[in-house]
Amino acid sequence: MIREVLRMGDARLLAVAEPVERFATPELAALLGDLRDTMAQLNGAGLAAPQIGVGLRVVIFGVRSNPRYPQVEEIPDTVLINPVLEPIGAELEEDWEGCLSVPGMRGAVPRHRHLRYSGCDEQGLRFERTVQGFHARVVQHECDHLDGILYPMRIRDLTKFGFIEALFPGQDLPPED
Ligand code: NI
Repeated sequence: MIREVLRMGDARLLAVAEPVERFATPELAALLGDLRDTMAQLNGAGLAAPQIGVGLRVVIFGVRSNPRYPQVEEIPDTVLINPVLEPIGAELEEDWEGCLSVPGMRGAVPRHRHLRYSGCDEQGLRFERTVQGFHARVVQHECDHLDGILYPMRIRDLTKFGFIEALFPGQDLPPED
């Protein structure tokens, strides 16, 4: 079911989400279905449960390669529950982000370039990946939602924050999360 995505200003986006304790349940399957339907409808790169008002540590993300955005790397469709993020090294990289909870805007956000992350899939099976660049950025953005952090809160230079039409007139931009 397509759900309403909460927008910045809603206090529910600022709460710290709770870990999932039971896997492979109908409730978890229904939540993941709603996240997938909502993300697909909005053409997003990722979506976190708190964005649809569910305070659980569940995110989904995935990006198909698209000739319209050759600079965007493919990310496999992923369900990540109770994630743990471990930055590798100290290198930060600044790049543009958008968010379905902050529609119409983009901001330049510093993120760890290299990252190891682990967590559970919807069956409760643990997995781990080591990633970099865009994939690492999307994971950091999504997992921030579980701690009540929206990307504008991480922008260091607020001159690099604004409306898409004003920042990138006439350009076709990659999906937001
Ligand atoms: Ni977001």
